[in-house]
Amino acid sequence: MKVKILYIVLATFVVIYVLTLTAMLKRNDIEILLSSRRLVLSDPKLHEEDLRHLEILQELNEVEKKIAKEDGNIIDDQQPQEVVVAPLLKGELRLNNQGGIEIRGEKPEPKTCKAERNVVFLKTHKTGSSTVINVFQRYSDHHNLEMVLPKLPTHLFKWPNKFNHSFVFEYKDGDRFNLLANHARFHKENMAAMMTRPSLTKFVTILREPLFQLESMFSYFKFHKPLKTSEENGLWEFFSTTESDRTQLVRNLKTMKAGVVKHLLKNPSTFDLGFDQWSEYPANVSHVIKTMDQDFSLVMISEYMLESMVLLKDELCWDLQDVVYFTLNKRPNKFRKDVGPKRETVRHWSRIDYAMYDHFNRTFWRKIEQKGESFQRDLEKLKDMIQDLEEKCLDKGDHVDETQSWFEIEGYKIREEARGTDYYELCKRLTRSEIDYTMILGEKQSRDGFKMHGKTRERYES
Ligand SMILES: *[C@@H]1O[C@H](CO)[C@@H](O)[C@H](O)[C@H]1NC(C)=O
Ligand SMILES: *[C@@H]1O[C@H](CO)[C@@H](O)[C@H](O)[C@H]1NC(C)=O
Ligand SMILES: *[C@@H]1O[C@H](CO)[C@@H](O)[C@H](O)[C@H]1NC(C)=O
Repeated sequence: MKVKILYIVLATFVVIYVLTLTAMLKRNDIEILLSSRRLVLSDPKLHEEDLRHLEILQELNEVEKKIAKEDGNIIDDQQPQEVVVAPLLKGELRLNNQGGIEIRGEKPEPKTCKAERNVVFLKTHKTGSSTVINVFQRYSDHHNLEMVLPKLPTHLFKWPNKFNHSFVFEYKDGDRFNLLANHARFHKENMAAMMTRPSLTKFVTILREPLFQLESMFSYFKFHKPLKTSEENGLWEFFSTTESDRTQLVRNLKTMKAGVVKHLLKNPSTFDLGFDQWSEYPANVSHVIKTMDQDFSLVMISEYMLESMVLLKDELCWDLQDVVYFTLNKRPNKFRKDVGPKRETVRHWSRIDYAMYDHFNRTFWRKIEQKGESFQRDLEKLKDMIQDLEEKCLDKGDHVDETQSWFEIEGYKIREEARGTDYYELCKRLTRSEIDYTMILGEKQSRDGFKMHGKTRERYES
């Protein structure tokens, strides 16, 4: 008899508990205190779509379990556990400075657009494009999209050949994809033909101030060797010759592996974008700019990466969380050379690239001006988010990217403290090199069971 009463009392408690919890979860402003960790959820309805994608509901189950545990007075002696959070920050999920996760109730601005999943990012050389490709790789990974990948284990679409489908990993007739971002030389029609909706494909690229780009190129590809200049002052010496001598020199160069030298020493972005880098009549230059204006819905500017990412997010109707980034593939500053006094020489030498850069830097800032206040708000938010994540993820100190043995590139080491946390996966994705991520996506997408094991990667080595 006593046992029966106990059961009834217990069952009543459970029913009341479940009802209370349900009521709580439906309320607009819910604050659940989990020891020192706070999970603040305001108006979950606003995030319905995100919630679905992000399995936040699963987290709520976790929360329920924990509440049940507290309700039953089972108190952990250990540190309170963190609420499980989706691998990518989404919606208004934020890390707070106690290491907890907050879902902020700040209303996201209602979207009048639909997230683009039909996008080509044309990678240009030495423009910060490795940082941008990580955003695309992560987006593809997170949403389980199909990315056009180069035939692995390479990470390039047979650059310097213009893109065609014969360079695509496991391509079968009729295959359609969502994103393309690995290094390729631009060919609009062939690229669009790979996408789910060819005629609606969005094209995006990035440019960098041409002198800085060339300086970076020179040291990364060790151009002093084929050009027989000194290592110390190679670029300076190269630009101290007359333009006709320089033209002869470059035109007569043998093409190294991957055709690097010839194509990247003059108007390299013009070349990457599929044009003839030696056709420099004014008519040719205006043709390049006009064509690009038509083909690309956004040209990012690498000097303004933060602004570029906000524009990217707007252009693709993605979320700010999607464009969080750590700068990847960066040289240590000790390699940087001052070549400022040669700017006018370079301006003449790479005049198509300069005309392109000047034009798209102008349209870039015009776009920002038109966006007004919301842009500035996004900019601040993105900056904060990156800073938060840097503090969460990154070990302070100098580290080297070991996927690129032929050149010293700054790398990241994830803090030991991040291991085992909910944001560890995000830290890993944010710091993953382009080459590694390409292989990982290949393994994930492969129908034929592709595995990297034992394969060597193709790289730019002379
Ligand atoms: C793709 O490009 C390569 C190199 O330029 C060329 O040899 C090949 O014929 C092209 N294939 C197709 C299907 O266009
Ligand atoms: C460049 O312009 C010249 C002169 O207008 C023209 O003859 C030539 O075909 C153009 N070249 C390209 C690649 O468009
Ligand atoms: C890009 O445009 C902005 C705004 O007009 C200007 O201030 C800046 O100097 C330009 N950047 C470069 C590197 O030319």
